Amino acid sequence: MLETSTMLATVQQVISDNQNKPGALLPILHGIQDALGYIPDDSVPVIAKALALSRAEVHGVISFYHYFRTTPPGKHKIQLCRAESCQAMGSKALETHLKNKLGIDFHETTADGQYSLDAVYCLGMCACSPAIQIDNDIHGRVNTESLEQLLSNLEPAA
Ligand code: FES
Repeated sequence: MLETSTMLATVQQVISDNQNKPGALLPILHGIQDALGYIPDDSVPVIAKALALSRAEVHGVISFYHYFRTTPPGKHKIQLCRAESCQAMGSKALETHLKNKLGIDFHETTADGQYSLDAVYCLGMCACSPAIQIDNDIHGRVNTESLEQLLSNLEPAA
């Protein structure tokens, strides 16, 4: 976990880099998530003040887009495609399997910090549905058996 002062310095830098762009809020939110892996609650009042918005307005945008996280991601990031093609080819079974196995819902991280689970809406692998991204690798035509194999291949992150 980052020190608060380090986190806020990063947030301030991202704001400074994007503040004068048209529609600056989204570039700022993306920049913070790229830099920190999530958008800390403590950054919301800083963003709101810089853009002369209310905290509720900033929160509203963060919660509208599923992409944005408000908690730190796990050491292994699992992103399951829930878009149409993958739904038609069985991603719901993968979703149920993952939620039961990890004991978490979408946008959550396991208590040991090892895994986070997120929904995404198309990984560009529709022809190989259902698709899943684990860390930087995208896998297609996944079923519960191959998913188990993929998970068992992951080294416990230090
Ligand atoms: S719909 Fe899942 S990869 Fe495109």
